[in-house]
Amino acid sequence: MTDAPLLDAWRAAKAREGHSMQIPGHKMRYGKSASDPFAPDLLDEVIRDDIPLQGGADDNVFSGRVLEKAEALWAEAIEADHARFLLGGSTQGNIAALTSVVAPGVTICIDRTSHRSAHAGLVTSGADPCWILPRIHPDFGVPIGVHAGDIDMSGAYALFVTSPAYVGTMTNIRALADLCHAQDSVLIVDQAWGAHLDFLPGRGAHAHGADVVTTSVHKALTGYSQTAVTSLKGSRVLPSTLTHGVDLTATTSPSATLLASIEATRLAMQRDGSARLALMSEAVHDARMALSRIAGVVALTDELLGCEMDPLKLTLFVPETGTTGARIAAELWQRGVGVEAADADTLIMTVTIADDPDTLADVVSLLEGVIESQRGPARSPAPAATWQIQPDVVMTPRAAYFAHRRRMPLRDAVGQVSTEQFCPYPPGVPLLAPGERVSEEVVEAIGAAGRMTRMAYCSDPTAKTIEVVADATVR
Ligand SMILES: Cc1ncc(COP(=O)(O)O)c(C=O)c1O
Repeated sequence: MTDAPLLDAWRAAKAREGHSMQIPGHKMRYGKSASDPFAPDLLDEVIRDDIPLQGGADDNVFSGRVLEKAEALWAEAIEADHARFLLGGSTQGNIAALTSVVAPGVTICIDRTSHRSAHAGLVTSGADPCWILPRIHPDFGVPIGVHAGDIDMSGAYALFVTSPAYVGTMTNIRALADLCHAQDSVLIVDQAWGAHLDFLPGRGAHAHGADVVTTSVHKALTGYSQTAVTSLKGSRVLPSTLTHGVDLTATTSPSATLLASIEATRLAMQRDGSARLALMSEAVHDARMALSRIAGVVALTDELLGCEMDPLKLTLFVPETGTTGARIAAELWQRGVGVEAADADTLIMTVTIADDPDTLADVVSLLEGVIESQRGPARSPAPAATWQIQPDVVMTPRAAYFAHRRRMPLRDAVGQVSTEQFCPYPPGVPLLAPGERVSEEVVEAIGAAGRMTRMAYCSDPTAKTIEVVADATVR
């Protein structure tokens, strides 16, 4: 096996001469003719690197098996037993994992603050969720991990948690793995934000005993947007079982360009990853120290939170500056710096191996200036409702999703059962999910979050109306 079978095949396909009589419709004609009316914007710009897997990097019958080989090399690199590359992000990974591992009527303990894709996976799998909640830090209002002692796994076939959380806090996966494996249950971890952890010895979820793990290669590592990997370790879930879920949710026309970027990321990590991760972890540590010297700013650390924190996540808590994370983020955006997420109290920044310490230091001084320009009297924290949800569950997500629906004003829907998700995005955790009763508090929270950020995945983009269960018979 070569070092990079998929990437090599992608390069060979790019250099190959000939004429394609198959998809993709653009025929990979980039760079071939300057007079081509499609050339300037389309062929030579936005799709200039697009090579399909089928009839591109591999032939139509996949005789080169380049994807399979690349997936095996990824699994080996992260010390897993099996891996599948995904082009639908960790969204696809979560839906695929849930649809593979659980089934209608099977109980799964699952963190209610999971990303919307995990809630979607409950609709596709039909499993019965037993909702659990992470602990919340009393001062900073952010999740600080799911605790094994808070979970009753009796009767549950699987446990689903997210680590790192959106804010960078991590769960003690070893304790959860022990809890699950004592009764031969499956631990599924959404590690969408922690792809880099798999390349830090002993830090990734598999290293702590997780059975199925999904990571976004495009988030904490350097893959094309949409790229992710779902992987298996141990024998509780068979590769063929995970494959059912992956194939159920995958396109039949995968882009070898996107897939090869996963392999190129692995190569980069194996060549230079440890040094870059060490360099940037140090830079984040320095940035946290520097930012904490700004009056009123708290940069969250392991010590402050009492739980492990992603070494590359920079999360600030700002109420005492008098301004909000959202106002700081808006000003930074005007100045060319996009941050991962912001709400009233927090500002979250993602640092990767593609950053460098000098750029990070520049962002720190920019932040200092912006905060000073917005400084006001210290205010009380206004924690995001996202992490505080206490759902009133009436029926399974699947039963609600497939029930007959009727639309009504959200304000009038208190007491009704939702068929849909209302997700402030980011972080994409539903404030209200299918099967949950609408309450006054939830209506308030949706209104407040909608003033701060985009309210996504509800059928009415204004979030003024809602589709509720009209009757629970299947549509
Ligand atoms: C915790 C978590 N899981 C899954 C996802 C979905 O990842 P992707 O955007 O790669 O589909 C996200 C997206 O932000 C997320 O925050």
